[in-house]
Amino acid sequence: MAPGRLFSRLTPTGLRARLIVAVVAMVTFTVAVAFAVVYRTTGAELTTQLDVSLRADAGQLGEAVTEQSDGRSASVLIAAREYADSQGYSNGAVLFFAIVPGQGIASSHPELFGQFGPDDGESTDQQLLENHQGIALAAPVTGYSTQQGPDLGPLRIYERRVRLGSGLSFYAGAAESLEGIERAKHGVLKSFAVGGVLAFALALAFAWLTGARMSAPLRRASQVAAQVDGGDLTPRLDLPANTSHELIVLAEAFNHMLDRLAAAFESQREFVADASHELRTPLTVIRGQLELLAGSEEVERDEVLRTERLIQAEISRLTRLTDDLLVLARSDTDDFLRRRRLGLASFIPELWDGLSLTAERRFEVGAIAEVTISADPDRLAQALRNLGTNAINYTEAPDGLVAITAVLRSGEGPRRVLITVSDDGPGIPAELRSQVFERFYRADPSRARAKGGAGLGLAIVKAIVEAHGGSVRVREAPTGGAAFEVELPA
Ligand SMILES: Nc1ncnc2c1ncn2[C@@H]1O[C@H](COP(=O)(O)OP(=O)(O)OP(=O)(O)O)[C@@H](O)[C@H]1O
Ligand SMILES: [Mg+2]
Repeated sequence: MAPGRLFSRLTPTGLRARLIVAVVAMVTFTVAVAFAVVYRTTGAELTTQLDVSLRADAGQLGEAVTEQSDGRSASVLIAAREYADSQGYSNGAVLFFAIVPGQGIASSHPELFGQFGPDDGESTDQQLLENHQGIALAAPVTGYSTQQGPDLGPLRIYERRVRLGSGLSFYAGAAESLEGIERAKHGVLKSFAVGGVLAFALALAFAWLTGARMSAPLRRASQVAAQVDGGDLTPRLDLPANTSHELIVLAEAFNHMLDRLAAAFESQREFVADASHELRTPLTVIRGQLELLAGSEEVERDEVLRTERLIQAEISRLTRLTDDLLVLARSDTDDFLRRRRLGLASFIPELWDGLSLTAERRFEVGAIAEVTISADPDRLAQALRNLGTNAINYTEAPDGLVAITAVLRSGEGPRRVLITVSDDGPGIPAELRSQVFERFYRADPSRARAKGGAGLGLAIVKAIVEAHGGSVRVREAPTGGAAFEVELPA
């Protein structure tokens, strides 16, 4: 296995695993840093305190000896010994000593500074080491030092040189075992070890529980997604009220998306059902006519011609229907429009002239703005023709009004042109105005069927206008009929 893949396998990828790793790493780091800081400061603080008191102790010893002695070395040693004895020495307290170079050492424990007799159970090596340590202690070193004391472990020592009036000088020293400080540091280590393990365990438990809580909604979401993927659009993501705000927002968006998907599927299903129904009707008529023809013994020429006319009518209905369906299917694609610059001042009158040849009505071209728009002339003509045909269908011959105008709309925002197709027919009731643009919608199916409509005309108008970046709506014309308003970017 390649090292990269091995690494990615070892890296925990689950939300919970990541959270645990992050929290535990953070807690461990924090405890380690805190420990290092406390451990070091404890040691340094205690050593400083010890140093201050040792210095004072050595100073007092020097003063006491200076006062008591007569300046000769023997009396210095006696005075020092008396002072040291009077202070007493037990483990953990201060050890006083005075060193008179070449003369001797005075201390409540002079044996620390010299040769040792064999102790019980001590090896010769140990003996030699202790003797060596004793000799080292006996050598005067001014200032602070840390040395091993025989049988005492590490000692902190302060020594100062004291000059007497007689010209004699000696070293006054104080020492204390560092064991107390070591013990304090050890205590810190122990507390941190216990606290660290506890914090580690708590962090682990916390990360585990939080991870579970955080990933629960996501697991639920993936369950729902899997169900949806399996074809069931009904499940929704219900999260408990105490879920975090971001996840609630996500769940709402998710549910909204599912609602829209379900609605889209439903309308798709209805569309296919309507389309099949519309396609089946002419096919049934054609089959019936053919059966009728085939069933008659002797067929008159007139009968054949009548049947042919009927069948031709159904075939053109079918052709129109499939053409319309094709337009609607294409309206979502990128190459639906072939735009070019289009001057409305000539385009609209020509279109209305062509339309006026198809029916006997009062065709009117009102005010047309001198404006050029970017549009697909074939599609735009198809949309306006659909509106014109509807106006023809819902007005009476010979002088039902079929009018068109195009005016510029100025206001804030980009310039727009408003094309209005109006008639003086029955109009569309206000409550139906939003529905007439739906596919296969017919306000009065029986009448529309008679006029040959499938209810796709206005859906096509809407698709074409929206593809141009415009909008379409219907309102009541001043004449009481319908007025369709197409608004396009100019
Ligand atoms: N000018 C109008 N006056 C009154 N009602 C109208 C007018 N235009 C459309 N409608 C109503 O809106 C419905 C939908 O119109 P649309 O053009 O989409 O379908 P259609 O004309 O019935 O069929 P198609 O256009 O597919 O041949 C019509 O059935 C009709 O009820
Ligand atoms: Mg129509």
